[in-house]
Amino acid sequence: MKKQSIGIGLMGLGVIGGQVAKVLIDKADALAEQVGCPLVLRKVKVLPQDLTRPQAQAMDSQLFTTDADEFFATPEIDVFVEAIGGESPALEYLTRALSDSKHVVTANKEVIAKHGVELLTLAQQHGVGLHYEAAVGGGIPLISPFQRDLLANKISGIYAIINGTTNFILTRMARDGVDFPSALNRAQELGYAEANPRDDIEGIDAAYKLAILASLAFHSQVRPEDIYCEGISRLGSRDFQYARELGFAIKLLAIAKQSDESIEVRVHPVFIPEDSLLAKVDGVYNAVLVEGDLVGKVLFFGEGAGALPTSSAVIADIVAAAQDVILGIGSRAKWGAQPGKDIKPMSEIETRYYLRLNVADRPGVLAQISKVLGDHQISISSVIQKLVDSVAQTAEIVIMTHPAQEKAMQQALDELTHLTAVKEISNFVRVEA
Ligand code: HSE
Repeated sequence: MKKQSIGIGLMGLGVIGGQVAKVLIDKADALAEQVGCPLVLRKVKVLPQDLTRPQAQAMDSQLFTTDADEFFATPEIDVFVEAIGGESPALEYLTRALSDSKHVVTANKEVIAKHGVELLTLAQQHGVGLHYEAAVGGGIPLISPFQRDLLANKISGIYAIINGTTNFILTRMARDGVDFPSALNRAQELGYAEANPRDDIEGIDAAYKLAILASLAFHSQVRPEDIYCEGISRLGSRDFQYARELGFAIKLLAIAKQSDESIEVRVHPVFIPEDSLLAKVDGVYNAVLVEGDLVGKVLFFGEGAGALPTSSAVIADIVAAAQDVILGIGSRAKWGAQPGKDIKPMSEIETRYYLRLNVADRPGVLAQISKVLGDHQISISSVIQKLVDSVAQTAEIVIMTHPAQEKAMQQALDELTHLTAVKEISNFVRVEA
């Protein structure tokens, strides 16, 4: 019998959930046309504090419940939409919905990154779909292209700016010279940062997203704990000044590379040439550069955070799930469920490096430093020295190296800290050219 409507159960009426509800209501006619019948919001699982939000006030209060059992017992829900975020209770709710053979849409990167394999397996067992386009890159289509359009390719690399908050902060620090706390405050005011901004700043949010993209791209399970992760809090305004002087921008990049033997996955700040495409991605924008053997380089670019772009992806997933319900199509999602290739240890990666050292300004110091680097087969490509304190007779030295192995660099840094002439290793940043 032809379905008269598709019932939607929405979990969460926060920034994302509220916007999803608004679009379902405001665009009801257009969405019904896409699906072939109306999408009807049947129940919304809320927290008490959600009820004071403008979106809640604009909706029928009969729709709301704070009780999970009442929510899941609501009849005629075909598609569950999770917009709670975080690992718990979202994971329990997603598991419950899939176990009940319901199609599921989620925007939850943490749950998908950590539990994607088990949830997709559960979806397959119950013949339903698990859609998560909004989990990575807000409104930018990424999951769907990896699942479909890029399938014929062997993907060799992903280079991604996938955290809007940190890109916003880095852009403000580079452009306006503002300090880190005030740039972070502004990102929080604008609603880009996670509830706990540590996840953004320390690269954890980007690592969740990279785990999802790399698993899809390489057809091999990459877990968040496989990813080397370093945040942006060590960067100072002097690093931005030197980067500009040397012709680089500083970005927090999520990098995944695949060779025949292994997978390399890391999130950390990098110097990238200022004329590269990714260097021009500013503010809250995200961009993902993908390299495939057939397609060459493809760049996805757009707003990676915020209620409107994220709702764009969630609603598209709801429409796809609703169409599957009508057509009786079960689970289509595939992931690299196999623990496939080895993850390359961070000590074996090779990049160029930027080093900023505070040193005693006296004869022979540069020679000592270059000897340590040379002893570890690290070749210097350029040096800048500036006097910073004529009274203390200390100088700042900035060294750019040729490609070197991380292990050698870490050993050299350790030795440099033991030189009496080296007062401080102020920073070191990897360079992707
Ligand atoms: N905090 C995230 C970001 C939101 O800044 O990109 C989108 O996942």
